[in-house]
Amino acid sequence: SSADMGEYQHYMLKEIYEQPSVIRRVIQNYLTDQKEIIKSELINEIKNSDRVYVLAAGTSMHAGYVGKALIEELVNIPVEVHIASEFAYHMPLLTKNPFFILVSQSGETADLRACLLNIKNKGFKTLTITNVKTSTLAREADFYLELFAGPEIAVASTKAYIAQIAVFAILANKIALNSIDIKSELNRVAVAIEIFLENQEISILAHEKLTKQNCFYIGRGLDYYTSLEAALKLKEISYIQTEGFAAGELKHGTIALIEDKTPVIALISNKDIALNTRSNLKETNARGAETIIITLESLKHKDDEIVLNDVNSFLAPMLMVVPTQLLAYYAALERGLDIDKPRNLAKSVTVE
Ligand code: G6P
Repeated sequence: SSADMGEYQHYMLKEIYEQPSVIRRVIQNYLTDQKEIIKSELINEIKNSDRVYVLAAGTSMHAGYVGKALIEELVNIPVEVHIASEFAYHMPLLTKNPFFILVSQSGETADLRACLLNIKNKGFKTLTITNVKTSTLAREADFYLELFAGPEIAVASTKAYIAQIAVFAILANKIALNSIDIKSELNRVAVAIEIFLENQEISILAHEKLTKQNCFYIGRGLDYYTSLEAALKLKEISYIQTEGFAAGELKHGTIALIEDKTPVIALISNKDIALNTRSNLKETNARGAETIIITLESLKHKDDEIVLNDVNSFLAPMLMVVPTQLLAYYAALERGLDIDKPRNLAKSVTVE
C-alpha cells in the first residue's frame, strides 16, 4: 500500500534511500551478532574448490561480476560468471572441483532452477545468495546466505543489488581470514551513500542531459560492471536504449553511434585507470556527446562532476551505482512512466 511508501512517491525511491540502513542490517547480521551465519563447511567447500561459477540473471548477475572480482582478489580462486539461461543448456567445460554460487533476489528465477537441477545431478555443491530465505533456490541449494535487504517491491532492483555485493564482500573476506576490516569499510560506504543522498541534485541532471532515446555508460574494471548495471536500470524504467561499455572498447566500433547530445556517462572510481577513462570520455565529447562524470572525491577534476566520498575501492561499486539508480528514476519520472511496474517486466520470472 502507499502507506508503506512513507514520504516517497515510489517504492523505487524509498528502496534507494533505504540502502544505508540495508548495509547496516547486513553488518549487524553477519558481523556483529554472535551467531555465525557463514558456516565453516561453506568456507571449506569454497576454499577447496579450484573454480567458482557464479550463475544469475539480470541485476543479480551484475552483482555476481563484482562478486567475481572480490573473490578473485581476496581469495585468489578463479571465478566465472554465467548467464543462468545459457548455463542451463550450454554448460561450459567445468574444472574438477567446481563450486557454484547462485545469486537471486527472489530465489525463484526459473533459469536458475534449471541450472541448479543440472548441477545437483552432477553431484556438485551449491550456495544460493538470496533475499528470500524460504525461496525455492534457498531450500534446494546446499547452503544459503540471506541478503537482509527487506522486501523489495519495485521491479527494478536497487537495495538487493547493494546487499548482494555486501554479502559477497563479507564472504570473500571471511575466506581470506579477514584481511580487510570489512565492518568499518562497509560502514564508510553506508555513510558515503547517506551523504550523497542528502544533497543529490540528480533530477536536474536527468532533465538537462538525458534528452535522447539512447545513452551510454562507460567504465573500466569494477566501474565496467557498474556501467552494465547502470545501463540496465536506465533501460528498464525509462525505456531509453542504454549500453554499458568497457571504456576502452567504445572506440572499436560503437563510438560510431555518438551524435550531437548523445549522453555518455563515465564511472571513475579507480585511480589507476581514471585518466584512461577520462580520455575515452573526451573522445566522445569531441564528437558532440553530452557527458557526465561520476567519481570519487580524490579523483575529481571539476566542480560539475558527481562526486562521492572516497571508500575502499573494492566496495566502490556499492556507492557508484547509487547516482545511476537516481538518474534512471528521474528520467522515468520526467517521462511520466510507471516506475515501480515498468512495462513487460516482472519482479520474479518463473518461466524459462
Ligand atoms: C527479473 C527482474 C530483474 C531481476 C532478474 C533476476 O528479470 O525483472 O530485476 O534482476 O529477474 O531476478 P532474481 O530474483 O533472480 O535476482
